[in-house]
Amino acid sequence: MSKSKKILVVHGPNLNLLGKREPEVYGHLTLDEINTKIKDFARERNIGVEFFQSNSEGAIIDALHNAMEWADGVIINPGAYTHYSYAIFDAIKAIGLPTIEIHLSDIQAREEFRKYSVIAPACRGRISGRGWQGYLDAIGQLMNIIGDEL
Ligand code: DQA
Repeated sequence: MSKSKKILVVHGPNLNLLGKREPEVYGHLTLDEINTKIKDFARERNIGVEFFQSNSEGAIIDALHNAMEWADGVIINPGAYTHYSYAIFDAIKAIGLPTIEIHLSDIQAREEFRKYSVIAPACRGRISGRGWQGYLDAIGQLMNIIGDEL
């Protein structure tokens, strides 16, 4: 059997408030509850997963750099940084790990400023508007890519 894959899941700013934050937009689950669902899903598939949440751009970039040492791929919800952080775009390019962009809400169906992702060209795929289930879909997308590549 092939060596089990390891994934970093990054949650960006304000996602620590999930459950309380605009539940009609982002759902009722807390970040811990979502992470548990991701972990259970990954464990059943023999995938290792580590989580990182920060409200700071620099800390997110450091976590991405760190992932070069151990991860096979990244799933990132960059929160509002999606729409303007060229530094996170650069970091994803720099580490060279296959990365899937994920959003709980459908960013195409909301305010104008959310429609554009500066991160997208650095990513291999995007899932948007599927709520917490989107993270599980993202694992599937990532595994297809990693499976093909490694
Ligand atoms: C989000 C969408 C972003 O526009 C927003 O700034 C977030 C969350 C989402 O998961 O739907 O913080 O990334």
